[in-house]
Amino acid sequence: MKFLLNFVLFTSVICGFTNAYKIGILIPDISRSQLLFNQRMGEVLAEAGHNVTLIRLQTLENDGKNLNIATKVGMEEWIVDGHLADVDYEWIKEKQAESAFQDDSIWTLFLGEKRKVMATMFKTFTDACEKIITDKEFMAKFEAAEFDVVFTHMYEFCPIGMQFQGKAKTWVWVNSGALWDYVAYFMGLPVPPSYAARKLYMIF
Ligand SMILES: *[C@@H]1O[C@H](CO)[C@@H](O)[C@H](O)[C@H]1NC(C)=O
Repeated sequence: MKFLLNFVLFTSVICGFTNAYKIGILIPDISRSQLLFNQRMGEVLAEAGHNVTLIRLQTLENDGKNLNIATKVGMEEWIVDGHLADVDYEWIKEKQAESAFQDDSIWTLFLGEKRKVMATMFKTFTDACEKIITDKEFMAKFEAAEFDVVFTHMYEFCPIGMQFQGKAKTWVWVNSGALWDYVAYFMGLPVPPSYAARKLYMIF
């Protein structure tokens, strides 16, 4: 009986180790909610014995660079620079702040300046993506890490391309908020009929 118990204990410890995965989490390090959500997810995975790398994609100017978010044993973090020299981040911030509490009609989105702000902001996403994905040093480090699974975020397709380029063994698409329409579309999931299409914003 004692032997059996020891045997069960021994094998469960061994299995416990072999079940550990190397997980990379691609985080849009541009908003605190995303940082918190992904960090908490990383903590839960690290507590379960996995090795977690928090890959912080800095695709907008960020004043939280010095925050240490790898809080548990088994967690590490990489800061990835997606900062663009020719983007006026201050201007984007100012314009966002101006419109944050305005009681605007949906039609104002079509007005000149708002379109310009949106277009500039979305362009920074694609340009930052290009900067990161063509960063040979980062991509080599990503590939060499040989992640068993990479978690990608829902903001854009960039991290999906990144995990593909970096030859991750598999990937998981994480929705940190409501199910977004294009995620639902590609996953073959229904969205409620009342859902206001995100594409409305993307036409800019
Ligand atoms: C996790 O990290 C530890 C310490 O660096 C290492 O010994 C172990 O092999 C890693 N496990 C996986 C699954 O990557």
